[in-house]
Amino acid sequence: MVTSRGGFPLALAPRAPGTLAQTWLYQGVRDAILRGQLRAGARLPSSRELARQCGVARGTVVHAFAQLAAEGYLASTVGSGTFVSPVLPDELLEVRARPPRAPGPTARRATSRYAARVTPFPIANRPVRAFRSNLPAVDAFPVAVWAQLASRRLRTALVSLLAGGDALGYRPLREAIADYLGAARGVACDADQVMIVGGIQEALYLVARLVIDPGDTACIEVPGYRGAHQVLQAAGARIVALAVDEDGMVLRRAALRRARLIYATPAHHYPLGVAMSLPRRLGLLDAIRGTSALVFEDDYDSEYRYAGRPLPALHGLDRAGQVVVAGSFSKVMFPALRLGYLVLPPDLVERFAAARTIMDRQLPLLEQAITCDFIVDGHLGRHLRRMRQLYADRLGVLVDAARAQLAGALELAPADAGMHVIGWLARGHDPERIVADARARDVEVSAVRWSAPSGERHGLELGFSAIAPRELRRGVEELAQLLDVGASRR
Ligand SMILES: Cc1ncc(COP(=O)(O)O)c(C=O)c1O
Repeated sequence: MVTSRGGFPLALAPRAPGTLAQTWLYQGVRDAILRGQLRAGARLPSSRELARQCGVARGTVVHAFAQLAAEGYLASTVGSGTFVSPVLPDELLEVRARPPRAPGPTARRATSRYAARVTPFPIANRPVRAFRSNLPAVDAFPVAVWAQLASRRLRTALVSLLAGGDALGYRPLREAIADYLGAARGVACDADQVMIVGGIQEALYLVARLVIDPGDTACIEVPGYRGAHQVLQAAGARIVALAVDEDGMVLRRAALRRARLIYATPAHHYPLGVAMSLPRRLGLLDAIRGTSALVFEDDYDSEYRYAGRPLPALHGLDRAGQVVVAGSFSKVMFPALRLGYLVLPPDLVERFAAARTIMDRQLPLLEQAITCDFIVDGHLGRHLRRMRQLYADRLGVLVDAARAQLAGALELAPADAGMHVIGWLARGHDPERIVADARARDVEVSAVRWSAPSGERHGLELGFSAIAPRELRRGVEELAQLLDVGASRR
């Protein structure tokens, strides 16, 4: 067996009877390179080691290697061994460039109806620029603290951390979250009701999986979070769009009473930013009383409020166990952490734990333990205070620049919370065209269409939390040129 770059054995096809050992080895290694099993730069074992692994004479390996080297597949350096050539022969590249063969008659593919309903959510992996939304200032995250906590964890609790345990997540983290939710969000819950999830997205995915059968009614806010619509659509739900006004979700009693699931962002509507008023909250709970409807409360960015007091979660008003609330560490820490929480009514906990066990058994434990230390040792509180200040400053920069350069063409909605703000376009602008033109200028915005009580409004979602002031100002300048603000003033 030849070993690949990571030192793993690489299977060679069995030697056909009558094939010379040297020919077999030559063809085996060559095929492994051609198929990409052995990548450019991969180190091969020494001729002695390979001879032992393959049960051939060392001279056989030396000759096979020499032939492969002469043809350009392998390169050797005295003292450091034999490698797959970093520059591969032309004929090899031609092999790579050949289009994949059409599937033959044996490759008839069948996927589920669920698979046909799944659509991809765009994940931005280009460098951050104005006005990337939904992203915290990851460069301001205290990585050194994180590294210290991680190393302490690894040094002191290795065995228990490697073994893992609870399908609902790391118990001390669940306790820390229950404490936080009680104090900061008005959510009275026990750690037993808290399930650690891979972000709010996974929380919703799980809830939809366990609550919705194809054809069931699900209500969502429109405009709203696209990731929620995609999950409900994939679940096969009959989606009912509920309008949003200045008081939040507009209640349609009949639809709500029919619904299995109602997705809502009461603390800070996404993307408009309005808070659901108390009468609406009470009205929603009243509308679904006595039905099997469950509200999924997406509490995605309630930690970022720059004026006034944070609004408590809707969950705090629910007496009937009809609200599940989900929150995330993606925005208060960093998105690649992929950790969040879901608070469940006690009678649903076991079902959800069972779903976890057949899905992925449990989430990675080390990150949960470090996150727990980060919270309990007070680092999250400190980080949040710093980020609130930083984001409030950035929002100020954006508001000032927009006021100075975009007046008359794009009016920013009042914003005192969150990580983005909506800029409302003057009549006559096509938001989708502006999104495309902005992209050509390296500016990221997304279009918002709102059927407001006063009429149809078109706007742009402008993220500011992850964007440095200079880049915010550049973004505003680009938008000003694009919207031709200077020209209309001249
Ligand atoms: C409104 C809203 N809900 C949920 C999510 C998903 O969050 P998570 O990263 O925790 O899955 C996002 C992500 O941007 C969001 O904007």
